[in-house]
Amino acid sequence: MNLLITGGAGFIGSNFVRYMMGKYPDYRIVNYDNLTYAGNLESLKDVEKRKNYVFVKGDVLDSKLLDETFRKYSIDGVAHLAAESHVDRSIMNPVEFLKTNVMGTHAVLEATRKYWKENPSATRRVFLNVSTDEVYGSIEGKSFTEDSNYNPNSPYSASKAGADHLVRAYGKTYGLPAITTHCSNNYGPYQFPEKLIPVVIFNAIEGKLIPVYGEGKNVRDWLYVDDHCKALDAVIHKGIQGETYNIGGDNEWTNIDLVRRICSILDELKPAKEPYSSLIKFVTDRPGHDLRYSIDASKIRRELGWSPAPHAFEDALKETVKWYLANPDWINCVKSGEYTAYYEKNYKGR
Ligand code: NAD
Ligand code: TYD
Repeated sequence: MNLLITGGAGFIGSNFVRYMMGKYPDYRIVNYDNLTYAGNLESLKDVEKRKNYVFVKGDVLDSKLLDETFRKYSIDGVAHLAAESHVDRSIMNPVEFLKTNVMGTHAVLEATRKYWKENPSATRRVFLNVSTDEVYGSIEGKSFTEDSNYNPNSPYSASKAGADHLVRAYGKTYGLPAITTHCSNNYGPYQFPEKLIPVVIFNAIEGKLIPVYGEGKNVRDWLYVDDHCKALDAVIHKGIQGETYNIGGDNEWTNIDLVRRICSILDELKPAKEPYSSLIKFVTDRPGHDLRYSIDASKIRRELGWSPAPHAFEDALKETVKWYLANPDWINCVKSGEYTAYYEKNYKGR
């Protein structure tokens, strides 16, 4: 397969590029990414010299370059991950989310439709749209199934919802073999240090306050990034065209419990004078903050035989913390001046 992965230099994308190259050495992996603040080729240093890997620096809004890329590499599979992905940034600057997530997804769909129409193939082709559980909004008591209504509450989730609807429409109207997945919160190596888990680790080891929004009672379901990659692989190869699949870890934590857990892992791995939990500070809540996400992933388990690896969450979390402690070069490389400016803007006066 010649697989185009958009957003392959981001957190999940870089883990997915590495996963697919390891598992399918005969595939050509084309990583299409315009390297925003969140995209970093440092995350792919170990695979970039392989013969079956190609990097194209390109914007998903650039239809001409997309067309050229499809033609040049005879693309017959697409995993669309490129997105603006951080809720807090979407609150500050929604328009970038509309451009990349809605218009960008449209441009990728259109390039795919055109190329596959002009170049029919007898072999299986698939367009995988990597979406999020956040499009369903917040839920109390039960879990989201694939039949749950869309109720996005942030500009980020609204823009992802818009993308999902376009993907569905391209399947219904043009017969594009499209599948959408909705995954819960991921954790693991190479996550940009604006998301909760890396923020906690970096602030703790730098002796800075650890900001917990509101009362820390919001609940998220955490899935190890490799388990997400495994699920995307299953969907690409076994998923049914036009279907959607929820992906989750059955692993719900309130933010405050998770933050305390990370602090105690750090107390063990890198003891400081005071327990790291003394740095926790409850700060002004995020506007429109969804209280709880909860994913029912029984469909993908039942129909595609996917399940997360049998690691205990605490062990995988500890490995993740160890990875960040062992990779200060990666951290210094991704924390550009842009990150510092964003950090100031998001947390100052909160
Ligand atoms: P990320 O922010 O770490 O990476 C996004 C990547 O997309 C970056 O490499 C960036 O350079 C690239 N990109 C952004 N705008 C682009 C553009 N206009 N053209 C080309 N490339 C562009 O995001 P992530 O956490 O790896 O998430 C990847 C995908 O998975 C996203 O679609 C996100 O909505 C979805 N998702 C993420 C999570 C999570 O917990 N992180 C959970 C469920 C779904
Ligand atoms: P985040 O990692 O931004 O993912 P998402 O908002 O997509 O779920 O945040 C995870 C949870 O942690 C969310 O409830 C917001 C909260 N949070 C904090 O309490 N403090 C922080 O500094 C950040 C970044 C997030």
